Amino acid sequence: MNWRPALVLFMLALGLGCQAKPDAGVLVFGGTGQLGAEIVKRLVADGQDVTVFVRPTSDRERLQGLAVEYVVGDMVNEADVTNAFQGQNYRAVINAVRAPITDIPFYDLTSQYVAAQAPAAGVQQIIHHGAVGAGENRTQFPDVPWDRVPGLAARMDDHAAAERNFRASGIPTVIIRNSRVWPDGTPSSGNASLSEDQSMMTPITRVDLAVFTLECLDNADCNGKIFHAVDPTLTWPPPGYE
Ligand SMILES: NC(=O)c1ccc[n+]([C@@H]2O[C@H](COP(=O)([O-])OP(=O)(O)OC[C@H]3O[C@@H](n4cnc5c(N)ncnc54)[C@H](OP(=O)(O)O)[C@@H]3O)[C@@H](O)[C@H]2O)c1
Repeated sequence: MNWRPALVLFMLALGLGCQAKPDAGVLVFGGTGQLGAEIVKRLVADGQDVTVFVRPTSDRERLQGLAVEYVVGDMVNEADVTNAFQGQNYRAVINAVRAPITDIPFYDLTSQYVAAQAPAAGVQQIIHHGAVGAGENRTQFPDVPWDRVPGLAARMDDHAAAERNFRASGIPTVIIRNSRVWPDGTPSSGNASLSEDQSMMTPITRVDLAVFTLECLDNADCNGKIFHAVDPTLTWPPPGYE
């Protein structure tokens, strides 16, 4: 018996099983948040099939009226993240989660959970919103008192771990770092950009971050890159901001 054609078909089937369907949707973590909701609104307006991972306690107000699917869980529970991917087919994951500083390495753990599940769900791209100053990047900003805020330096190392975990998944990853974001709802100044210069640090609006997210979605030019989202025309603190 010539077993080679059968083997080739078997290998093809295995490969196809890991491929996202062309119309597979996007799974968004942090979609109820200020940046996440802005991203979700734009994805829906763009006709995308969107699933939002929410906590049982999440306020869905920002997403009211939007045609999205929800999956409920807490990212710190590995089983909940696994459940979000189980039997699903997503072509992209967008991570816009932000958590308060605690004793647990939140970004390290949760990114490991996502990275472990995403390949089998056919994910072709991860877009991760991270932080300027992650890990070694802190050395680019010697004037920033990273040690003054308790836990901040450890949080920045936690951010770096998440970046490494997503990249190590083998899935093309886009990292968009921001530093200080202007208040929710601030319109774009029209002067924002994504820079590959990792010594850049300026404020940014969430609207611009959302626009950049959609520009990078399915865009191979963004894959494998670490961007700093910058708008040199914005100051800190914003006018009227305490
Ligand atoms: N804000 C800043 O100054 C700043 C600075 C640097 C980087 N960033 C990055 O920018 C992005 C967006 O920031 P943002 O200020 O717009 O965020 P945000 O409004 O605080 O929203 C945070 C989101 O994360 C979700 N979340 C938190 N813990 C979770 C958990 N255990 N399981 C599942 N979801 C959880 C929240 O869900 P609930 O609705 O349930 O709370 C919410 O949807 C983040 O990626 C952050 O790392 C922000």
